[in-house]
Amino acid sequence: MISRSLGTTGPRVSAIGLGLMGMSDLYGPADEAESIATIQAALDAGVTLMDTGDYYGMGHNEMLLRDALRDRDRDQVVISVKFGLLRAPGGAVVGLDGRPAAVQSSLAYTLRRLGTDHVDIYRMGRVDSAVPIEETVGAIADMVRAGYVRHIGLSEAGAGSIRRAHAVHPISDLQIEYSLLSRGIEAEILPTCRELGIGVTAYGVLSRGLLSGHWSKDRSLTPGDFRARSPRFGGENLDRNLALVEALRTIADGKDVTVAQAAIAWVLSRGEDVVPLVGARRRDRLTEALGAIGVDLTPDDLAAIERAVPAGAAAGDRYDAGGMAALDSER
Ligand SMILES: NC(=O)c1ccc[n+]([C@@H]2O[C@H](COP(=O)([O-])OP(=O)(O)OC[C@H]3O[C@@H](n4cnc5c(N)ncnc54)[C@H](OP(=O)(O)O)[C@@H]3O)[C@@H](O)[C@H]2O)c1
Repeated sequence: MISRSLGTTGPRVSAIGLGLMGMSDLYGPADEAESIATIQAALDAGVTLMDTGDYYGMGHNEMLLRDALRDRDRDQVVISVKFGLLRAPGGAVVGLDGRPAAVQSSLAYTLRRLGTDHVDIYRMGRVDSAVPIEETVGAIADMVRAGYVRHIGLSEAGAGSIRRAHAVHPISDLQIEYSLLSRGIEAEILPTCRELGIGVTAYGVLSRGLLSGHWSKDRSLTPGDFRARSPRFGGENLDRNLALVEALRTIADGKDVTVAQAAIAWVLSRGEDVVPLVGARRRDRLTEALGAIGVDLTPDDLAAIERAVPAGAAAGDRYDAGGMAALDSER
């Protein structure tokens, strides 16, 4: 497994990280034993970056990670945790809390659920516009000084917030959606990260499965599935997006790789400062995703991919209207 550094101050991690969200939430039912086997297979393959959130399955995701790590060396794993989204028992997102007291309280519960004495990267899942980001990041910085947190990250923050946060404490990485279908960060956010020496952990590199080559129009979705209300997965938008996937498939076939591998390899090709998080929750998907590491995209391949899936080609926003409104990165 090759490795990359998260910014100038962050940890060195595997070039691909594993995102655990779908093992507890948002993508329909997941098999718990297979989820744990997938995490352990990732560790065995040299994946060191594990991304979770306290609100993924309301604590379930962190407890799953704890179970998967039970007989493993904690110090070989970089655990990235998001906090701050408030959820009701039924799962609805009912608010955000970036107040300093919430930082301490959320972290206390997370450490207990994970069964560890520190989190490697701690970040607020969304910027809380009701609390100055200096206060939220300042409170995490206190936790760094107290030894409970090693590095501070951000999630879906825009350029202005990134600068303000970084002025309080060095930021290791920004976690943000980045894929062939979601290229919004290229104009301002990615250059800002590069100027400040902040890495990018890219999520949704398969556009939540849409860009995996395994998606089809007849796939049925459970009511709680995020994709049931995602603008990119419905009606005419889905037809247009799947046509882009077929154009990518032609290029992938020509290189004897899968569509998912081509899509992940494209994100890897964006720079040494970009680390894709893959949302595999089965071992076969993980093996496919990690296969992207050996895919060499030549300048001709990259030009062909650009023609097949040009920037801005995706039909539909990446979140529904409520989700878009909550994104500091889209303001
Ligand atoms: N900061 C944020 O706001 C934020 C938001 C979303 C996610 N994240 C993080 O980023 C991680 C990845 O996001 P994501 O799950 O949306 O990303 P993704 O990798 O774009 O999508 C994962 C989906 O792709 C499907 N898939 C098909 N083939 C795959 C393959 N070979 N490898 C992996 N997945 C394949 C999976 O479906 P099947 O399981 O049905 O096979 C799964 O539903 C999350 O787990 C979470 O940790 C962060």
